[in-house]
Amino acid sequence: MKRAEITLNNKVALITGAAGGLGGAIAWAFGAAGARVFLHDLFEDKLQDVASAMEKEGIEAKYKTQDITALGGPQALVNAVVSAMGRIDIVVNSAGINRPQKAEEVSEKNWDDIININLRAMFFVSQAAGKHMIERGGGGKIINLSSQAGSVALPLRAAYCSSKGAVNQLTKTLALEWAKHRIVVNAVAPTFVETPFTEQMFKDEEFKKYVLASIPLGRMVTSEEVANAALFLASDLADMITGHVLAVDGGWTIQ
Ligand SMILES: NC(=O)c1ccc[n+]([C@@H]2O[C@H](COP(=O)([O-])OP(=O)(O)OC[C@H]3O[C@@H](n4cnc5c(N)ncnc54)[C@H](O)[C@@H]3O)[C@@H](O)[C@H]2O)c1
Repeated sequence: MKRAEITLNNKVALITGAAGGLGGAIAWAFGAAGARVFLHDLFEDKLQDVASAMEKEGIEAKYKTQDITALGGPQALVNAVVSAMGRIDIVVNSAGINRPQKAEEVSEKNWDDIININLRAMFFVSQAAGKHMIERGGGGKIINLSSQAGSVALPLRAAYCSSKGAVNQLTKTLALEWAKHRIVVNAVAPTFVETPFTEQMFKDEEFKKYVLASIPLGRMVTSEEVANAALFLASDLADMITGHVLAVDGGWTIQ
């Protein structure tokens, strides 16, 4: 009997938002599984630190800073990956923001900023990478960072929940449209994770209590647990899974 093994040997993986908590954990998990990783974010110094730490561990890692909400940014990023690594096999769309605000106080700028990075940039990075995969004859994997906020309402998050609900629909639509090109598209939908993204929110003890009480398994998830789910979806073990939103939420959304 052959033992199932998770490996990404020699696969080229682009990870957006790789200076962040989840993007960084995913990049490390993919690199440890044998992938050649291309890190993307806004901050050169952070990317450089992660890339050199990875190179020290024998992981091939290149990087580029790029505002992917800027016109032409997603295509420029994908061009840079192809020129540095020769091709793209896997994309993880992890760049994202959240600015909790009362619905009656959300400014037009905050609404646009959230939708532009969480949804618009995710689509256009996927589009640029998808075109590249199709031109190469098909095959590839796209993994979108959604959230439990894509399927349940959370207070102070009108724009964020809207963006993540749309991410779930985007994931299914791209999966359907690109199935004929053997490009599979899935999403990972975590509950709250302790990263720089949530550090600020958890200064509010009441909020932290509400979060813990809402998770049947009784704790937040770790970045590594989210990375493991992305690793599974990126691997050959998940070749026939597409259009799926994989909850990594300790049971929050089953209630
Ligand atoms: N941390 C959580 O609790 C949690 C839970 C569910 C879903 N998520 C989702 O996971 C993803 C990653 O979250 P995280 O916790 O790693 O957040 P993070 O803030 O640690 O990382 C996000 C990264 O995206 C980058 N980014 C933001 N705007 C950008 C832009 N215009 N161009 C390029 N890069 C940009 C940031 O610089 C940052 O490094 C997000 O989509 C988030 O919505 C996070």
